[in-house]
Amino acid sequence: IPSVKDVLANHFPIGAAISVPQTLGEHARLLSKHFNSVTPGNALKWDATQPTEGTFRFADADAMVDFAQANGMEVRGHTLVWHNQTPAWVFLDANGAAMTPTAQNKTLLLSRLDAHIRAVMGHYGTDIATWDVVNEVIDENQSDGLRRSRWYEIAGLDYIRTAFRVARQVSPTAKLYINDYNTNVPAKRDKLYNLVSQLKAEGVPIDGVGHQMHVNVDWPSVSESEAMIQKFIPLNVDQQVTEMDVSIYTNTSESFPTPPRDRLIRQAYKYRDLFDLYKRYSSELTSVTVWGLADDDTWLDTFPVVRNDAPLFFDEQLQAKPAYWGVVDPSRIE
Ligand code: G3I
Repeated sequence: IPSVKDVLANHFPIGAAISVPQTLGEHARLLSKHFNSVTPGNALKWDATQPTEGTFRFADADAMVDFAQANGMEVRGHTLVWHNQTPAWVFLDANGAAMTPTAQNKTLLLSRLDAHIRAVMGHYGTDIATWDVVNEVIDENQSDGLRRSRWYEIAGLDYIRTAFRVARQVSPTAKLYINDYNTNVPAKRDKLYNLVSQLKAEGVPIDGVGHQMHVNVDWPSVSESEAMIQKFIPLNVDQQVTEMDVSIYTNTSESFPTPPRDRLIRQAYKYRDLFDLYKRYSSELTSVTVWGLADDDTWLDTFPVVRNDAPLFFDEQLQAKPAYWGVVDPSRIE
């Protein structure tokens, strides 16, 4: 069967989120045949890279970067700053108590942020050319659009400014991204747009906007997702689809022991339609990444409820699904 990366070669690199097992055996063969970019799904997050202060662990991510280089693949670095998967010590004050919003704690927190980014980006140098510097900082229900995370409570908007400025100091050439979900929703992307617009006007070095694209067989429509891309064109930023998957479920009460054929077909047409859109915007979109290699390993098996989901190109036996044909050759979907 055709290689996805070859089919998309004139448009953009195609990536997959992986962990170490995807770099071994049959998974590795499938990965290197079809993809030319990888994103470590968890191994570059703060809890993985700096579980205790000053102790860095890079073994898993190093293994994935080595695999990528051996196979001529790019690596997306995900992620330097997030409200999840950040160890508790980061938000403890000098006495080991939970930080309260004081000037002293803000200074301490930003110095930890600075040290973390220097260590993690510095470890990889030019081996990782694209970083999700901050992840999921938007909350469209706040008037200023900023998620009330521990980062925000202690440091306000300065944690985002600091993260990008330090990242730029470490690497003058890396592409620095702000990454978020639900950018197909107008209220969410408007807040993201306002933030990026403000920060760019201040000179904060943001190069790109990442659209996660955790979607489903019915949502979004092509026009909703087209509005997502068009919104950011005036800002002169790169854009990437960073975490795409298409759930077979449309609400939390559904649960199928095995994926029904009609859902897999609907999924294939959703992949076809969205990839057709992305190909039309290949001057704006510099890569598209799906959030997993095959349905044997997907975060959607446990979120938002525990059930069997099947959101990717390949099934649990690593066989090509209708979704794969939706991207590669829609005439073969049925
Ligand atoms: O590593 C431990 C393992 O030691 C333990 O035995 C096991 C038992 O549950 O848990 C393992 O950790 C899990 C980790 O994935 C690695 O598999 C965590 O419980 C689990 O919460 C974690 O989930 C990750 C999730 O982020 C955390 O929020 C998913 O794999 C990962 O795909 C997901 O990725 C996020 C992106 O970073 C940001 N956007 C949304 C996306 C989906 O949630």
